[in-house]
Order: sequence, then C-alpha cells, then structure tokens
Amino acid sequence: MAIKPISFARDREHIFHRRQLAEDLVHRLSDPVYKSGLFLSAPRRTGKTTFIRADLLPVLREAGAVVIYADLWEQRSLSPARVIISAIRDAILHESGVVLKTATAMGLKKVRIGGLEMDLDAIGTKEGDSLARTLEKLGAASDKPIVMVVDEAQHAQATDDGRDTLFALKAARDAMILGEGKGFRFVATGSNSDRLRTLVSSKDQAFFGAKEEHLPELGDAYLQWVLDRSTFKTCLSLPVIRQGFDVFSRRPEYLQRLLKSMEDEPAFDANTIDRVFVERAGASMEHARQTFLASLRSMEALDAAVFRRMARLGDKFTPFDEGALRDYAALMSQDATRIKVERPTKSGVQSALERLRRESLIWNAGRGLWHIEDPQHAVWTRSEQGATANDGQTTPCARSASSDTASTP
Ligand SMILES: Nc1ncnc2c1ncn2[C@@H]1O[C@H](COP(=O)(O)OP(=O)(O)O)[C@@H](O)[C@H]1O
Ligand SMILES: [Mg+2]
Repeated sequence: MAIKPISFARDREHIFHRRQLAEDLVHRLSDPVYKSGLFLSAPRRTGKTTFIRADLLPVLREAGAVVIYADLWEQRSLSPARVIISAIRDAILHESGVVLKTATAMGLKKVRIGGLEMDLDAIGTKEGDSLARTLEKLGAASDKPIVMVVDEAQHAQATDDGRDTLFALKAARDAMILGEGKGFRFVATGSNSDRLRTLVSSKDQAFFGAKEEHLPELGDAYLQWVLDRSTFKTCLSLPVIRQGFDVFSRRPEYLQRLLKSMEDEPAFDANTIDRVFVERAGASMEHARQTFLASLRSMEALDAAVFRRMARLGDKFTPFDEGALRDYAALMSQDATRIKVERPTKSGVQSALERLRRESLIWNAGRGLWHIEDPQHAVWTRSEQGATANDGQTTPCARSASSDTASTP
C-alpha cells in the first residue's frame, strides 16, 4: 500500500482564533498613546502566546508592519539579549527576501535591504550597529513601520544584559519616534500584571510610561467552539462548561484534557453529567495540586523551605537576611523526618534559589528580587491541605458525533 505523505497541518485547526481581538489591537496601536509601548498581561497558560502567534502577528503583517517576535519564556535557557537580537536578525533576513534556512546554511553575515547593508553578526556589538541604529536602518530600508513583540518580557529584567537590551530598545523607540521612518511600536506580554506594572510604572525602568492592559482570557465563544467539536455537545451546556473552565482558572489545556478523558469513557447519565463534569474538574485540579505538593515535599529540604517562604511572603520575600535564615530553619524542622536541622548558610540559600530557578519554579527579577513563576503554585503551597471529589453515573446520555473540522469565528 502506498504511504500517504505525512502532514501535521490539522494541528492548526485545533486553535480557536481571536482575529477580531487582534484587529482591534492593531487598530488601536496607531494611537500615539501607545508610543511608549503596550504591555499586555494575562495569567500563565491562558493563551497569550497562542493568540500572539496565531492572530496578532499575522494581522500585524497584513497591516504592513515589519514584525519582530521574541519569546523570552520559550527560550529561557538563552540570554534575553541573545533571543531579542536573533529575532531582529530573523526579521532583517525575512525583509531582505533571503530564506532563513538558506542564510543559516550559507553562513550569510551581511544582507542588503533598500540599498542599506546590515552586518547580522555585529548587531549590538562594539564593531557593529547599535540596536537603535539597526532598527532605524530596517525601518528606512523597508519603508514600513516596525512592531517588536516580546513575549514574557519580565524575564529580561533578570540579567544585566537583559535590562541593557530593554534600554537599547527604549533608545530605538525614542530615535524612531523622531526619525523619518514609519515609526516603531513595542508590545510586550507578561503572566503577572504586578510585575508588568513595575516595568511601566517606575521611573528607572526602560518602558516607564508605557500602557499596561489586560489581555482578555478565552471566553464563551471559545467554550462554544470547544463544545461544538465535542461528542458532548448535546449533553453539556455552556454554563456548565464555563463553570469547569473557571475551576481551571481559564486554562484551556486542563479543560481539553478533561473532555478528552470523558469522551474516552463509554456512557454518562444525561441527568447527572453536568454534576459529574464539574466534580471531575474539581477532582482534576485537586489531583494537580496534590501532585505539586508531593513534588514540593520530595525536594531538598532547603529548596522547599525557600519556596514556602516565597509563597507566604510574595513581594515581601527576602532571601538572605537573619530573619530569612531563621525562617528556613524553622520550616525545615517542621519536616517530621528531620531530627536536627542546621541553620542554612547564605551560599546554601543561593544554591537553592539557583536549583529552583533551573526547574522554572521561580524567576529572578533582578536586584535581589525573586518570584514564584506560577501563582497557582503559590496558592497551592499556602493551602497544603486537601479535598477529594467523587463521581456517579447510570443512564446513558445520547452523544453526538464529534465534529473535528475547524471553525474560525
Ligand atoms: N486559542 C486557543 N485555542 C486552542 N487552544 C489554546 C488556545 N490558546 C491556548 N490554548 C492551549 O493552551 C495552551 C497554553 O497556551 P499558551 O498560549 O502557551 O499560554 P500562555 O502564553 O498564556 O502561557 C496551549 O498550548 C494550547 O494547548
Ligand atoms: Mg507564553
């Protein structure tokens, strides 16, 4: 039998598009109130990156902008400065019409756009053009407005060179506001609105004065789209799905996983399926909580103590002072398996912070500030007590066939 060519194109059908939201945003960006930048916040795993990549970037391109996109979370093992410079390089190559793969394969270092030569390897170095100059040249050569989108921008605060890069982008923005090109917009996202607010509201930050807005989370239109594609579309109502989605703090992956697991089961009672669905949503969150707490308990005692103190104190967390060291010792001695607890040293705490950071459980906001990466983990750590859910089923509910075709509202 002949083998059909493999294709993963249908993955794209599993994305619910928010084109109208993207169009509104792009339209609003022309307003000079956004000239200092726009910072969009929404909690982790609620669909920011998906929205940006699937809707915002294409609409920006259709609107005639040169788009530069850097995701500091996806590439968190690299320095933010490198990620941003390499995104600028990709955009230059794209504009010059050189296929990225070919450029990499040929080791292409210099390209010409609109009569201007750009040395790709030297961007942001002493020998080459500054970021500001590079972006100005790109704007002039392409004769298009430039939009730079930095996903999870708060990670740039963690290192000196990340902070320097933000200041370099600010210099680029200021130069381009006054320059002759078609202008520049800086759009950033972040999972924590408090963190983003500090980026735009303190005078010593690069993007002081930029506007901070909440990116709407997925709502009823998305839930209806999920229902329409589910075998439960005639059994489950929108309000019930919404209730489950709220239990999951509006994170699509949890909802999709629950529906999938229920779809794999043979029968549900039409009279109780609503209750079962909501209970299972609660049970699945409880399971996630227990799994997380179990991993917290199996960590090195000092790592767990640092994490617990951070969860308890939030923005008031201090890692190394006398009170902190005493607190770690007290937290470690609460662990019943330990007979004698040594007071930790500062270098021990530093190593614990590093380990937690490597596990992506915390992040370094620079200047000695540390934060828990996922606010859900902080809530679970503060709770450290459980609840369970149950389920029940009898008469079968009549399911419809799953429609697996894409619909793009
Ligand atoms: N519009 C959407 N349609 C379908 N699934 C989505 C959508 N947005 C997010 N998801 C699901 O949620 C997951 C997390 O979304 P993501 O965009 O990475 O969140 P964030 O950037 O806010 O952390 C994705 O991997 C995807 O499975
Ligand atoms: Mg993301």
